[in-house]
This record gives sequence, structure tokens and C-alpha cells, in this order.
Amino acid sequence: MSVAADPVKLMKQEVGKAAAEIVKSGSIVGLGTGSTTAYTIQYLGDRLKSGELKDIVGVPTSFQSEVLAKQYGIPLTTLDAIDHIDIAIDGADEVDPHKNLIKGGGAAHTREKVVDYLAAQFIVVVDSSKLVDRLGSSFAVPVEVIPMALTPVSNAIKELGGIPELRMGLKKAGPVITDQGNMVIDVRFDNISDPVNLEKTLNNIPGVLENGIFVNCADVVLIGEVIDGKPVVRRM
Ligand code: A5P
Repeated sequence: MSVAADPVKLMKQEVGKAAAEIVKSGSIVGLGTGSTTAYTIQYLGDRLKSGELKDIVGVPTSFQSEVLAKQYGIPLTTLDAIDHIDIAIDGADEVDPHKNLIKGGGAAHTREKVVDYLAAQFIVVVDSSKLVDRLGSSFAVPVEVIPMALTPVSNAIKELGGIPELRMGLKKAGPVITDQGNMVIDVRFDNISDPVNLEKTLNNIPGVLENGIFVNCADVVLIGEVIDGKPVVRRM
């Protein structure tokens, strides 16, 4: 594929592959969700098949990553059966200079947060379009809400200065339903100056299961870029 045809896809492929190359044999690996980590899962499967990588086991962060892991031959486990995760690899929708993230573009941030925070090493894989000076610049904050609490949670969010919008399905009438059977409210904030506090404040609203602000969690951010027509990966 030429870079001119689809540079974003190429950046995602390169960065997804670079992260898969970091994984060592014998590791328990958190498998993220989204179009970038889909490449990571595919390359992990390729490395297993070639024999270069052995004895890894994956912890999926969503139904999507579970399906992909099965498709590419990665053995899976659950959090009940293990006592640690060595490395998690996951995408993000925004990354600030302090490696704080907004996640949840695929409505999977609740399980992602459980797995990514448990990992001894959490590697974020993004293309360069995801880098922002301040969280909330281009992406709304996804908030997973139990369905009976949609109205009071939306009202509480408005009082915090956010603009809530229920996420609607594509090719499905009605709202997006998460892997847990809940709904997602995407919240626009004018200015997120204190992501640490906003994460806690949103999670304190009764009826909120989890929000997509990830702070003090990412160890390494791998960034896919196209420079002079060639894909490169750099590390933050
Ligand atoms: C899933 O809910 C998200 O957190 C994804 O990890 C995030 O949206 C990044 O996805 P892409 O790799 O598809 O951009």
C-alpha cells in the first residue's frame, strides 16, 4: 500500500507491529481494543506461528480483542486465573505530553482500564494525529453509564460544565451498548485543565461505571508517523 493512499493505516500498522515486537516469550499480555491494536494482535499471532515467540497468553479488553486473538491463534486467559499481567498494549484517542490519555472511542474503556492499570508495563500505540497539548482538545470524554441512570448522570455532567451526548449506534437503531450491557455518554468539556480530578469526579457520579480518562498509567507511548513518505515509529 502506498503512503499517499492511506497514511493513517500505514502508521497504525507500523506502530502496532513495533509494540508486538516488544513482547517476550512467556508473557501474560493485555490485548487492547481498536484498529491499531488489531495490528498488534495480528503480529503477535504471526510471531507465535513462526515460533519466534512462545508461551504467551492474552487477556482481552473487549469482545473485539477476544475475537481477534482467537482468529490469530493467541491463547487467552481471564483475570481469575492469573496473578499479574506483564505487559499491556492498547490504543488511545488522545495523548497529552504527560502521557495522560482519553480512551473509549470503541466503548471498551472500562475493561481496558482494568487490564491496562494491572499491567507491569503499559504501552500505548497511536498514530501522530492523537497527540494533543491538552486532553479534550479534539475528543469528548466517554463515560459508561448504567441505563437506568442516564438522565441523572447527564444532569450531573451538565452541572460540571460538560455537554453530554448519548452515543448512538451505526447500522443499529438506538444507542451503542457496551460489552457490559451499558450505554456511553460522550462528554465535551471546554477545557480539561485537571484530568486527575476530572477522572475522579466523573466516577463519583452515582450510575457511572467508568470514564475514559487514563492518568498516571502509560509507561511508554509509541507514535507512528510518516516522515518524508516513510513510516517511522518514535517513543514518548
Ligand atoms: C477502545 O474503546 C478505545 O479505547 C481504543 O483503544 C481507542 O479508541 C483507539 O482506537 P484506534 O486504535 O482504532 O484509533
